[in-house]
Amino acid sequence: MQNASAPSPASPATTIEQGWSLASLRANIIGADTPVPVLDGSTQPYVFLDNGASTPSFRHALDVMGEFMEFYSGVHRGTGFKSLLATRAFDDAHAIAGSFVGADDALDTVLFGKNTTEVVNKLANRCDWREGDVVIMTLMEHHSNDLPWRKHARVVHVGVDDTGYLDLAALRQAFEAHRGHVRFLAVTGASNITGIVNPIHELAELAHREGALLFVDAAQLAPHRAIDMGAHGDPRHIDFLAYSAHKMYAPYGIGVLVGPREWFLRGDPDMVGGGVVEIVEEDFVAFSPPPAKEEAGSPNVPGAIALAASIHILRSVGMDRIAAHERELLSYAIPLMQAVPGLTLIGPTSPESLEHKVGVLCFMMDGIPHAKIAAILGIEGAIGVRNGCFCAHPYVKRLMRVPEDDARRITEEIIAGDRTNLPGLVRASFGCYNTRADIDRLVAFLHRIARGEYSGSYILDTKSGTWWPENFAYSFTDAFPHFPFLGSSMPRACGEAS
Ligand SMILES: Cc1ncc(COP(=O)(O)O)c(C=O)c1O
Repeated sequence: MQNASAPSPASPATTIEQGWSLASLRANIIGADTPVPVLDGSTQPYVFLDNGASTPSFRHALDVMGEFMEFYSGVHRGTGFKSLLATRAFDDAHAIAGSFVGADDALDTVLFGKNTTEVVNKLANRCDWREGDVVIMTLMEHHSNDLPWRKHARVVHVGVDDTGYLDLAALRQAFEAHRGHVRFLAVTGASNITGIVNPIHELAELAHREGALLFVDAAQLAPHRAIDMGAHGDPRHIDFLAYSAHKMYAPYGIGVLVGPREWFLRGDPDMVGGGVVEIVEEDFVAFSPPPAKEEAGSPNVPGAIALAASIHILRSVGMDRIAAHERELLSYAIPLMQAVPGLTLIGPTSPESLEHKVGVLCFMMDGIPHAKIAAILGIEGAIGVRNGCFCAHPYVKRLMRVPEDDARRITEEIIAGDRTNLPGLVRASFGCYNTRADIDRLVAFLHRIARGEYSGSYILDTKSGTWWPENFAYSFTDAFPHFPFLGSSMPRACGEAS
């Protein structure tokens, strides 16, 4: 057999198989230490501590995607070399995304959507719901693993303890109370607020014993821990799992859903159009097998290539090494942050708890609103954090012990357009490339805030809930001249962050 190969690109990027070390990751992050303007008119290297929302890109993922663009083409039905190569790469990206979480090549299918939210919606849309069906979930869930299920079934939230851990006894009771009706247990692999890692294999066992399926939202778990869905037929097997490329250093629009192929063979896809069919007649449609059946329209091929490249890097470093590094960052950060006067960390902080916690630290400070702390850190310290309720309002209210009456009153205020009293926290979330120096910058600035040593005179915009210093505006066009921004500064709405 002849094997014709394509000419090499003029200056090839490092090969995808190259070995990566933990130490090499920082230099491989696009925008690590980018200088950004601060309030006093100077610039400071940016400290990125908002990885829980979205990570910056691995330069290598962008390079591989850039090289691929030489061969970019629509996939699956083109006959030219580029289309054949693109199809092969796109299909391989599915296999790589599946094997990263231990999917079974023969029994599972791997579907691409645009993010975790979209694929959770797809899963919920694709279930053959029956009258009286129940989905059990935890109070910890991100809205993306709560609201999609509410559209179809009765949702039962299981509570947490004061630290934020899932109440396993209450979970067992919920199963008992709804025995015979529970179709899914839907849980987060790791919380985007406390970082708590749930015992997903134990939860699988419990769900299966009760005749339910387990869905794991791994948006916050996949970037930080090795995942193995396990063998089909094993009671500890995870049935369905989702994660997002943009939280894994490949922010180019891919969400991954893994689940039993046989399950997706049944029924019609939730979205129809080109790409999902074998044959269409005027009054007849035969759908393709998954994953094509579930990926209507032209897919995000470059995003899939970038995700595969990111996965190669993470695997090459080793997920266990990444977990150990992030644990070390937590052990370093926790006592330093606890030493900031008036600062309270939320969630588990003891050394022994860190084994089951990803690199997320949420906190509040006495007498200073969360949105003001986040604004000062950003505008004066060039430190990117996030504040609010992180798309998990019920969990944050519980962790902050907001009384029910207050919660109801605040809801009414928000609906009336006033976010002054929105409860919330500040969140610093670490990625695999963060260092102790990043934490030192954060902690030093928190001490300054605690001493009242910030220079802006901050005013609250009650409608958005954001704080902004008087007489200050960024010039975004200086930093990024390609877009004709309509305004210079863009205070964002508070509390609706992921
Ligand atoms: C736990 C969790 N689940 C789901 C999501 C939603 O992910 P995406 O924004 O990629 O849809 C997030 C986003 O922050 C999250 O933290």
